[in-house]
Amino acid sequence: MNDLLNIGLIGIGYRGIIHLENCLQRNDVRIIGIAEPNNASISDGKLLFDKYRKEHPKFYSNEDGYKDLLNHHSLDAVIISVPWDYFFDISSYALSFPIYVGIEAASATCLEQLYRLKEIKEKSGAECMLLENTCYHRDVMAVKNMVDKGVFGELVHCRGGYEHDLRPIKFDKEMNFGRGVNGEASWRTKHSITRNGDLYPTHGIGPISSILNINKGNKFTSIVSHASKSVGLKSYVEKNEGKHHPNAKDQYILGDVITSTITTSNAETILLTHNTNLPRPYSLGFRVQGTKGVWIQEHGNHLHLEDYCDNDEWMKNSHRIFNEFDHDDWKNLQYEAAKTARHQMDYFVLREFISSIKAQRKPEFDLYDMLTWLAISPLSEESIRNGSKTLEFPDFSQ
Ligand SMILES: NC(=O)c1ccc[n+]([C@@H]2O[C@H](COP(=O)([O-])OP(=O)(O)OC[C@H]3O[C@@H](n4cnc5c(N)ncnc54)[C@H](O)[C@@H]3O)[C@@H](O)[C@H]2O)c1
Repeated sequence: MNDLLNIGLIGIGYRGIIHLENCLQRNDVRIIGIAEPNNASISDGKLLFDKYRKEHPKFYSNEDGYKDLLNHHSLDAVIISVPWDYFFDISSYALSFPIYVGIEAASATCLEQLYRLKEIKEKSGAECMLLENTCYHRDVMAVKNMVDKGVFGELVHCRGGYEHDLRPIKFDKEMNFGRGVNGEASWRTKHSITRNGDLYPTHGIGPISSILNINKGNKFTSIVSHASKSVGLKSYVEKNEGKHHPNAKDQYILGDVITSTITTSNAETILLTHNTNLPRPYSLGFRVQGTKGVWIQEHGNHLHLEDYCDNDEWMKNSHRIFNEFDHDDWKNLQYEAAKTARHQMDYFVLREFISSIKAQRKPEFDLYDMLTWLAISPLSEESIRNGSKTLEFPDFSQ
């Protein structure tokens, strides 16, 4: 394989442009084509090529441009960062080529789509990685290291989720959303009108799956989900524009707080939360409970490890143990990571994707992990639709 990887990008909005800049900072990657229908995003992309003094790629600006990108170039990989509505069509097309396909955290609407992606990948020989950056969070990697070394004893229960006040993202300043509105409000909000479930599970479940070795000896066995009432979005529009605003209606069905309990074949339980319509600071709310202690990440890192501290108390200098178990990649590459476009974990997720391509191996989190994590959305919706019925969790490896 050539030392310089040929990579194409599909979508360079908020996330795609971060991947673009992080690729441009590397000297082992050449961006040869970009599919992006939005002219403003294309202009932003061109400025980055100028900033890094790299040759402009071929831009494809029609909606189907991703097909031309994939057909006209000999690519080692593509990175897809598009709205949820395009996730299936574009991913399934890209996976039909025997290349590496990196996909931004997405949302699946039905299990059939996920089985179809499996079928396409298995036929073409493509490799796929969900680019879940939270798996490469420094604290998550340190806790995984501690868990692997037995510091938490035997694991019993984990928690996590996506608790992010997306109200200012779901609406523009005039409280509008949909076509013609900028950014994620153009596509994301309508999912709160048509779906009731955990719409965005991967930021929480990715790290938990890594810690619990899901699909690496352990697996999810069942899921049951509950939805609270849905009042957050309506009250937000009312507060900002008054109750006569057309979007201050009872049109939202997405429960403000969705909780799912997942069981595993190793008899652990997982509590996963989705909470995007209410005021609160961002949190992935991690908790890892084992026979020898617990980690809770909410307003900072709280550790109680019985081998290291007194009964009933949080560790006073927990940063010491985080330093002791800091992952080698973070120890060695933190200054490189600090140069990245946005979050440092984005450096590590891209690094793993590129390393897997160079070594022609499976990425650390592969297509089967992606399907398992994304399945939580349609399964939680089905559970809620059926009065919070417990459902068997599908095993995509079979
Ligand atoms: N990992 C994270 O921290 C994180 C953060 C935000 C969003 N996301 C996820 O990333 C994905 C993209 O979100 P975003 O915030 O970048 O959205 P965005 O709306 O900012 O950007 C999406 C881009 O895709 C482009 N696009 C639309 N149709 C296309 C097509 N047919 N071909 C090529 N490009 C097309 C749009 O023009 C836009 O520029 C979503 O799945 C989202 O959930 C992840």
